[in-house]
Amino acid sequence: MELFRVIYISRNLIPPSATEAEIGRILEASRRRNAALGVTGALLFSEGAFAQVLEGPLASVEEVFETIQADPRHREVVVLEAGRVPERAFPEWHMAYVGPGATPPSDCETGPGAPVLALLRRMARRAEAAEA
Ligand SMILES: Cc1cc2nc3c(=O)[nH]c(=O)nc-3n(C[C@H](O)[C@H](O)[C@H](O)COP(=O)(O)O)c2cc1C
Repeated sequence: MELFRVIYISRNLIPPSATEAEIGRILEASRRRNAALGVTGALLFSEGAFAQVLEGPLASVEEVFETIQADPRHREVVVLEAGRVPERAFPEWHMAYVGPGATPPSDCETGPGAPVLALLRRMARRAEAAEA
């Protein structure tokens, strides 16, 4: 099966008071839909910005990414990478979450997802710095 990966960053529009509830909703929907569609990945949240990697069959990644792009909880979705990949970086995660109050799953830090997670962190830091 051909695998496709999209990595993007976006600006968070969720007010601080609603963060916990909204992130919970996003993760619940992500894990349910991504599992049904064969999409895996990781979502990094750092107050000002989101960075996310989505991987799976092209049609599934497109379907999920279209919904995400239309989501009013963020804006300025900028795609940093999109293309075919030989294997999944987050095979075990329908959506691993890294953010305040959440320790990244340890297999994401050491497994094939580690370099991608490091990239997400760098991008989120850059987006935060640009915001400041
Ligand atoms: C930053 C961000 C990341 C998201 N990631 C995903 C995702 O990986 N998969 C997904 O299905 N929905 C994701 N969502 C939520 C979708 O935009 C949408 O709300 C959700 O899929 C709707 O699902 P439902 O209609 O089945 O409840 C994300 C939303 C945001 C703001």
